[in-house]
Formats: sequence, C-alpha cells, structure tokens
Amino acid sequence: MIDPSLYSSHIPVLFESCMRLMNPQPCGFYADGTLGAGGHSEGILKASAPDGKLIAFDLDPVAIEIAQERLKPYGSRVRIIQDSYVNLGLYAEDNSLDGFIVDLGVSSMQLDREDRGFSFLQDGPLDMRFSPAQAVSAADIVNDWPEEELSRILWEYGEERKSRRIAAMICAERNAARIETTGQLRDIIQSAVGYGREKIHPATRSFQAIRIAVNEELKAVESVLPAAVNALKPGGRLLVISFHSLEDRIVKNFIRKESRDCLCPPEQLVCTCGHKAILRELTRHPVIADEDEIRINPRARSARLRAAVKL
Ligand SMILES: C[S@@+](CC[C@H](N)C(=O)[O-])C[C@H]1O[C@@H](n2cnc3c(N)ncnc32)[C@H](O)[C@@H]1O
Repeated sequence: MIDPSLYSSHIPVLFESCMRLMNPQPCGFYADGTLGAGGHSEGILKASAPDGKLIAFDLDPVAIEIAQERLKPYGSRVRIIQDSYVNLGLYAEDNSLDGFIVDLGVSSMQLDREDRGFSFLQDGPLDMRFSPAQAVSAADIVNDWPEEELSRILWEYGEERKSRRIAAMICAERNAARIETTGQLRDIIQSAVGYGREKIHPATRSFQAIRIAVNEELKAVESVLPAAVNALKPGGRLLVISFHSLEDRIVKNFIRKESRDCLCPPEQLVCTCGHKAILRELTRHPVIADEDEIRINPRARSARLRAAVKL
C-alpha cells in the first residue's frame, strides 16, 4: 500500500512554465519520459481533461508504483511503462504526439532513500542505478574501472577540478578493500579534496559524475531528442528540463540545429547541405526557477527548461 504523503507534498520543478509551454489540449496525446512521482504527468492529465491521453515512462519500479497510485483517478487515460524513454518510438507512432516532456536526472524520492545509494548525505550501498535491472552499479565503476576512466568521468561529468587526485585516492583505497558504501566513498573524496571555500559538499560533483556514468544519462538525452521529434506531430511540443550544463548544452544545440534551414558554413553562398528546419524554438533562453520556487524546492535552483514546437 503506497502512502499518499510520498507524492502529495512533491512539487514538480518549473511546473507552471511546463504547463504553459506544453499547453495540453482536451483530446491531446502526450508522453512523459520521466514519470517520477507523477507531478508533471498529473498536470498534463488534469489540463487535457476529459479525453487527453498520456503515456509515461520510468526505469524505477518504486517510482512506477508510487505514480500508479497517484494517477489511478485518471484510469485508462494514462498508460505507465517501465522502460527507458529512449524507447519512446516503440510506444508512440511517428507524428502521433502533441507533446513530450523529460525532467532529467534523479528524483528527490530516490535521493532520500539510502538504500538507493544516490546520496552522500546517507550511508547506503553504492548503487545509483535508476533500475535494478541495469548491469552496472556505482560500486562496479568505483571498484573496477581504470584510474584514468574514473578521472575522466569526474572531470567531464562532474566538472571536478581535483578529478585526478580523487581517482588516485579511490584506487589506493580500493586496493586495500572494496568500496561498498556511499559513506566510504564520501569520506575518501572528502579527504582527497578537503573542504575549501565552496558552498557545496566536496562530494557533490563526484557523486553526480558517477551517477551520470552509471545510468549513461548523456547518451540517453542525445538519443531521445531525435526520437521525440519523430514521434511528435506538427505543432507538437518538446520540453526538456535539465540539471547539468552538459545536458543543457546537448538540448540547446539540438534545438538550435533543428530550427535552422541550412547548416552550411556562413561563408558558403549557396546551400549544399539541404537541411530543413523541423523545429521552432519556444525558449530563446532557458526558463529558470524564481526565488520563491527555489525557496520551497532548492533542487529547482539548477533546473533549465527548454522547449520547441515541431513544424
Ligand atoms: C526528476 S525525476 C522526474 C520527476 C517527475 N517529473 C515528477 O513530476 O515527479 C526523474 C525520473 O526519471 C527517471 N529516469 C531517469 N532516466 C530515465 C530513463 N532513461 N528512462 C526512464 N526514466 C528515467 C528516474 O528514475 C526518475 O524517477
């Protein structure tokens, strides 16, 4: 039995802006790639009443169970799918969707549960997988990947300036004994990095980097964007909320590229690429949370929402 308090207090990030940009219609067909606690999904279902339909994806069976309970009142208008959003094309035909949203990354429900191993604030198994069916966990990466690979992901995905030192320290420690918990990893990073003058915890960037590697999150974003455009009908809306500068760059570059008619270099007078715009950007600059939202939901601080409409 799911306790409704798990979702009743949950605040979806940038909710009002998402609903304005998605503009759900009474007979529309929508997809939510990252169901989580079902906040954005419920917003779409409410706004597209009485006949709007929604398919919603999550890899996490716990999130699915919670959202299923929340979305029960919407009956057959919603179909919940335990799969990656990268497989959108298996569930939505080309030119069928009026809107697609993804709210990337980890949910507060996942962060709050120590047994999921996402957070350095608790001591749990070093896991970080969105789905227990995934082969590689954070413990596998931390204990088995070569030092250079560890250093690379800390640098690339965590933008961690002390990536080399952290990777070296992890490797020294794991030679003595396998690193199995978030607490162990946090302490190793802390002793490699020190506290410095930063406002964030010294393990923040490294934990984020390892989570992105575990779930291959950047690859997933790259592959879902063209799939989403295929699935949208003309006039359909694409909305992406990202929390990481690399993700936001992928989304921005994709939308900019697909909003242009020609990709030839500017000095070339005659177009030879034949590229045609398939999107129109709806957000020249990313939508960000205001101070009120950040006060209530600190996670919203790093959220960036970009949207486009299919031509
Ligand atoms: C930030 S939460 C979404 C919150 C949601 N918008 C809400 O209102 O509750 C992100 C969710 O996406 C899921 N997720 C991450 N990557 C995924 C993927 N490739 N496919 C499906 N779900 C994914 C995570 O398990 C997590 O539950």
